[in-house]
Amino acid sequence: MKTVLQTDKIGKNFGGLRALDAVDLNIQEGEIVALIGPNGAGKTTLFNCITGMHEPTDGKVNIIPPGKGKTCVNGFKPNIITELGLARTFQNIRLFSKMTVLENVMVGCHCRNKNTFLEAIIKGPRFKREEKQTLAHSLDLLETFGLVDFAQQMAENLPYADQRRLEIARALATDPFLLLLDEPAAGMNPNETNALDQLILKIRTEKKISILLIEHDMKLVMRISDRIFVMNQGKNIADGSPQEIRNNETVIHAYLGEE
Ligand SMILES: Nc1ncnc2c1ncn2[C@@H]1O[C@H](COP(=O)(O)OP(=O)(O)O)[C@@H](O)[C@H]1O
Ligand SMILES: [Mg+2]
Repeated sequence: MKTVLQTDKIGKNFGGLRALDAVDLNIQEGEIVALIGPNGAGKTTLFNCITGMHEPTDGKVNIIPPGKGKTCVNGFKPNIITELGLARTFQNIRLFSKMTVLENVMVGCHCRNKNTFLEAIIKGPRFKREEKQTLAHSLDLLETFGLVDFAQQMAENLPYADQRRLEIARALATDPFLLLLDEPAAGMNPNETNALDQLILKIRTEKKISILLIEHDMKLVMRISDRIFVMNQGKNIADGSPQEIRNNETVIHAYLGEE
């Protein structure tokens, strides 16, 4: 198996707080990895360091896009990291609420377009051709997510679970090799969560990408993960298959509880 992401002893300080301490996380091609741990463990901070929202205080974030060489992305801006093939969603929904569902996905596609600013202004032939492709690709994605009937609705008018799924569709529109999802099932009911895990499995199979997800819903985590990476107080405390994690004493004590 080929590695696509490799953090090398990542650390992050916020003033006196050590939010991440020497975290080594590897993701393989096509793998679904769940990142779990109690609130405040450093999960979102790790996402932020990987996606360029924060610069790590120490250590390195390396990405290895399939078929390409290793790049250390410390200090890269989030938009550059997206262009390199990492896409994410947020713990709190961050859609363009006053844009339509379709426009939200089209915005994601635009990071792959090769138009210059001038071509966009004059709406030249290449611009028109790319816009047509963007539209077709966006409608395809909305179809996969069961959102195509809502294409022209304002994003803010979608039910909550659909907004969460639209965020995933927009992230996928950037054509990533690694998708990072921050608590995608938060606020969903059990039926919506079941539908979400089918969707995540389908994305992995159809798009042949790796997925790293932060999630508290342990049923979902156990059902879809190839591997679980557990954090507590900024440190990685366990890393293994769902079966191994379920029976790991340290994890049970720190997070899963005794029942
Ligand atoms: N921007 C920030 N400034 C200061 N402290 C932060 C910031 N982001 C996170 N923290 C702190 O870092 C720790 C880890 O937070 P976070 O990564 O959000 O945890 P998790 O996602 O696992 O719940 C917490 O103590 C949190 O208060
Ligand atoms: Mg978080």
